[in-house]
Amino acid sequence: MSFIADKDYSALADYAEQMTSDESGVLKELREHCEAHYEDKAMLSGFYQGRILAMISRMVRPMYVQEIGTYLGYSAICLAEGLASGGMVYSIDNNAETNAVAQSFIDKAGLGEKITLRQGNAIFMLPHVSGPFDIVFIDADKPNYSNYYNLILDKVSPGGFIIADNVLWSGRVLDEEKDENAGCLHEFNQMVQSDDRVTNVLLPVRDGLMVVCKN
Ligand SMILES: C[S@@+](CC[C@H](N)C(=O)[O-])C[C@H]1O[C@@H](n2cnc3c(N)ncnc32)[C@H](O)[C@@H]1O
Repeated sequence: MSFIADKDYSALADYAEQMTSDESGVLKELREHCEAHYEDKAMLSGFYQGRILAMISRMVRPMYVQEIGTYLGYSAICLAEGLASGGMVYSIDNNAETNAVAQSFIDKAGLGEKITLRQGNAIFMLPHVSGPFDIVFIDADKPNYSNYYNLILDKVSPGGFIIADNVLWSGRVLDEEKDENAGCLHEFNQMVQSDDRVTNVLLPVRDGLMVVCKN
């Protein structure tokens, strides 16, 4: 049963944002820069999801975070908020242009010592990264989500987390005839759900966040 089914969802979403702590000035500038200059601006996590990632990081206090899909660095900067002393966010992306923009905002935020960008195809790079990671954020090409999960799970610390974005794919995971991304994301969700090495919860936040804890 839902307590809010008869209420205006978008008004409640606005209310939730209003009752959520502000992002930093650099994050706001980065988000506004993205909104003003990038056609694919929906790729950026956005204010509310960013605050959730930052809050999870503050709860976990990770030493090492691995992100797959940097884009302009917004989520990497959010995930760095809760880092333990001496910790590091590693983030992989194969796009040199957006990596350069991400690096400039990371430097502006004074996080050059806490976030390391690695350029390349995550499928080829992940076998060579060494964990253990306390948080992994999967947010790159959707057909590879299951591959990324299988490549990284052994490198997640016991009790550590994998968070995967866009797992509802604008609701299209429910379609009878799924497009390629919806089909791959549905398979990913089913694979996680049947994996007895983990405990998981799918949060219907924004486009869907699958939160997975390694047992
Ligand atoms: C949705 S965006 C990431 C958004 C970012 N995590 C955020 O929340 O602000 C996805 C990124 O994945 C990158 N990407 C896609 N396929 C990739 C691959 N095979 N290897 C590395 N990066 C990839 C794209 O270049 C893009 O920047």
